[in-house]
Amino acid sequence: MMEYRYVFRGTAFTSESPKEVKILKDYLFCINRNGLIEKMIHPDDNEYELVLHTYQWKDNFRQLSDGQYLLPGFIDLHIHAPQWAQSGTALDLPLNEWLNTYTFPLESKFSNIDFAKQVYEDLVSTLLAHGTTTALYYATVHKESSFLLASICAEKGQRGLVGKVVMDDHKQNPEYYRDPDTASALADTEEFILAVQDLAKKTKQGVYPVVTPRFIPSCTDEALRGLSALATKYNTYIQSHCSESDWEHEFAKTRFHKHDAFALHDFGLLREKSIMAHCTFLSEADVDLFAKTGTAIAHCPISNAYLSGGVLPIAHFHSKGVEIGLGTDISGGFSPSLFDNAKQAVISSRMLEDGVNPNLPTEKRGKPASRITINEAFYFATAGGGESLSLPIGRIMENYTWDVQIIDTQIPGAKLPIFSSRNQDLYDVFQKIMYHTRPENIREVWVQGVNVHVRA
Ligand code: GUN
Ligand code: FE
Repeated sequence: MMEYRYVFRGTAFTSESPKEVKILKDYLFCINRNGLIEKMIHPDDNEYELVLHTYQWKDNFRQLSDGQYLLPGFIDLHIHAPQWAQSGTALDLPLNEWLNTYTFPLESKFSNIDFAKQVYEDLVSTLLAHGTTTALYYATVHKESSFLLASICAEKGQRGLVGKVVMDDHKQNPEYYRDPDTASALADTEEFILAVQDLAKKTKQGVYPVVTPRFIPSCTDEALRGLSALATKYNTYIQSHCSESDWEHEFAKTRFHKHDAFALHDFGLLREKSIMAHCTFLSEADVDLFAKTGTAIAHCPISNAYLSGGVLPIAHFHSKGVEIGLGTDISGGFSPSLFDNAKQAVISSRMLEDGVNPNLPTEKRGKPASRITINEAFYFATAGGGESLSLPIGRIMENYTWDVQIIDTQIPGAKLPIFSSRNQDLYDVFQKIMYHTRPENIREVWVQGVNVHVRA
């Protein structure tokens, strides 16, 4: 028998498909030294007793307690790390005014490394405590504090994909918060990519640089072209915002006489390793272009309710073959929790399907076939995010990373309303976990086979 770094015994939930949850009851999960799931053993397998007997008295064996369950770690596909400092506030203005009134002044303060350190350390720890094992971050325009964010992820054991934000257009960005010019925006991005790729060499769980034009309105053509070339040169991820609100969608139409999606594509920014946030106002042709280029959507349902002015037709876009994951979009979205965002994705999709204006007749009120289930929201928070990033994460499956959260449903003071846990009820347990889990219930979080969070 192969020697395992850890063996866990317990019940896990993972996506079988977007619509189906697979229940792995009383399995043995055998983790290797690289932090991958080397083997999963069903209780009826011949090997089960042998592995159990070999490991059960060793200190690298873990038997989950009654009422504890494993879920894959969550993947936050879109989050602005500096905005953690204003999370829960500043939610009263539309996107354009929100950026200029609150967000750019706040982000400009991240030239101060001490302030950045305080906010970023708190955020990364908070995300881990909420079960988020991988996050695709926007930092700020400052290359030093952007690199600091990547280092904090590396140190705390989170899989971080981090972008130094580019905003080089002097006509669109305030003098106090922008890249000084296009050449320095590109040079800083290149330096940042090299530094993070170097950091990655000594980071077990991975840390990745991300080419990050904030969105079309903040960047010159030259920057957009140059960033695409850098992403090619260093084979990096790309992230941006696309067709988030009427204002943003109209901006690209006025400047390029085409939609955001096609404009981004002209600059070479839509590709397999691209993730675009929001995408609420994509047309059918835009969605087809996403599917064709392998570009993924980061759906941020809480943020959309405040800043977007529409609900993403997630069921329809997913049925057209586009990869989709979930994002918090801190601080457009106030919650750091993907449990909260998964619930909101379900709620928003149901409101899209049923419609919201009670003065309209029932049949005219909504958009048919729009709702998603909690199983699908769970898929988007886990496996869908993993596929969007083309990484072996987001599923509890052999050859995937051991990125998991251990949920305890029986914590005194945070007990979930589960009154029986017979076999046939395990799917109910899954649903209750998705709807009722609070940070108190997330007892441990593991990333790449390393325990990175324990709830005291
Ligand atoms: N578009 C450009 N910047 C931002 C941002 O910080 N948040 C959101 N939600 N949309 C944006
Ligand atoms: Fe955003």
